[in-house]
Amino acid sequence: MQSDHHETSPNTAQQYVHWFRHSAPYINAHRGKTFVLMFGGEAVQHDNFQHIIHDIALLHSLGIRLILVHGARPQINANLQHNQIQSPIHINRRVTTRASLPCVMNAVGSIRLQIEALLSMGLANSPMFGARIDVVSGNFVTAKPYGIRDGVDFQLTGEVRTIDTEAIQRHLDNHNIVLLGPTGYSTTGEVFNLLAEEVATKTAIQMQADKLIFLGNQNGLLDEFGQLLREITPHQLDLHIAKYQDSNFEIALHLHNAKEASLKGVHRVHLLSYAHDGAVIEELFTRDGYGTMITDAHYEEVRIANIGDVGGLMNLLRPLEEEGILVYRSRERLESEIEQFAVIERDGTILACAALYPIPVSGHELKSAEIACVAVHPGYRKSNRGSQILHFLEEKALQSGIEQLFVLTTRTAHWFLEHGFAAANVDDLPNARQALYNYQRNSMVFVKRL
Ligand SMILES: CC(C)(COP(=O)(O)OP(=O)(O)OC[C@H]1O[C@@H](n2cnc3c(N)ncnc32)[C@H](O)[C@@H]1OP(=O)(O)O)[C@@H](O)C(=O)NCCC(=O)NCCS
Repeated sequence: MQSDHHETSPNTAQQYVHWFRHSAPYINAHRGKTFVLMFGGEAVQHDNFQHIIHDIALLHSLGIRLILVHGARPQINANLQHNQIQSPIHINRRVTTRASLPCVMNAVGSIRLQIEALLSMGLANSPMFGARIDVVSGNFVTAKPYGIRDGVDFQLTGEVRTIDTEAIQRHLDNHNIVLLGPTGYSTTGEVFNLLAEEVATKTAIQMQADKLIFLGNQNGLLDEFGQLLREITPHQLDLHIAKYQDSNFEIALHLHNAKEASLKGVHRVHLLSYAHDGAVIEELFTRDGYGTMITDAHYEEVRIANIGDVGGLMNLLRPLEEEGILVYRSRERLESEIEQFAVIERDGTILACAALYPIPVSGHELKSAEIACVAVHPGYRKSNRGSQILHFLEEKALQSGIEQLFVLTTRTAHWFLEHGFAAANVDDLPNARQALYNYQRNSMVFVKRL
């Protein structure tokens, strides 16, 4: 493939290099992971859908195991209208009569063919160039009747009974993309009309997927000031579910399912817009993401420490200080510096902590701060808490206009390298911090530009 670098301005090229380098950790983190991506029939009709398909191809080529789940509501509605068939809706669910089933099957079948066709074209000048993608769909979803509710017989409207996770796993192992739709088959050989959202959620839970992504008609959730909420816990969703229940049923359905998935072990659920070109890529490969991410309950909140945390902090830090991993901090010092600390606390135990110290700078020196005293309780390591607390302090630093972060460490170099820090020298530290450098301890210096 020929590069057209002669048309790229140095500035753009630099931005590109910068972006690519900063995406690398995410590329590595996502490889081999299983993502379920759900989008409704509206997304398929939208102009941006071809970009979504390109992005799906890109994710696939980066080694992500993908399960796509499509809906078909507008297409089913159009078919029903065209054939002048009434299909009542009760409590936001369609009653699928025998007469309306062909409209459902026709819509679902056409969308499946359309997606398969789009994923098959090897378009030059697109990210699809040279990619070979095998898509598999099949009888992976077993359904059962939704039954009679409030005296209304939902007939051929069903709910998910089981998902054939073994078969799906096999196809993913063979590097296929698995495509599911809003239909399932019963053991009696009937076809049932399902909610695509439910198919996606049950699949994500049973496949123990790493992510469930909903592409909806709005991008994520907003707080009361209209600001995008980047992260939210499943329990915080209730308020939003109530808000959207009457005004935007599709979003309410996504939220409802997001909560279920989250509480049943899908650690990351993302809400993105299908209309924004590149939303999925931005969400998955940039630090801030693009939409809202729902993280499971044991993703505790990071907060600024207060004086009541000093005892807990000492319990966490003392053993590490005794091992020489961290510098000794007296109770008095902890008390006076307590506001520089961020902690993750659970029932009075400090599970993780880290401190952010501003460094006085002069002249042309960049506004700097030091990250120090990063520690996670030994029983709670390797669950991302270290990354979470570091991320929290990076955000805090950014908000206070800090341009670069330093860290001095004797044993944790690689962990910081993996979190975007680069090796530096003592000379790179602002003068005020250099003056305090302990040559006997001989810590390595790392820096991260924000
Ligand atoms: C470093 C530390 C804060 C990481 O906390 P954590 O919550 O386990 O971090 P995360 O879950 O975000 O990351 C875990 C990954 O970091 C790796 N890691 C942990 N300590 C490391 C170290 N010293 N060097 C390199 N990698 C390390 C783990 O092996 C794990 O990687 P893996 O999942 O591929 O095996 C924690 O191990 C700790 O408290 N260590 C002792 C204190 C310390 O060294 N602090 C830094 C002093 S400035």
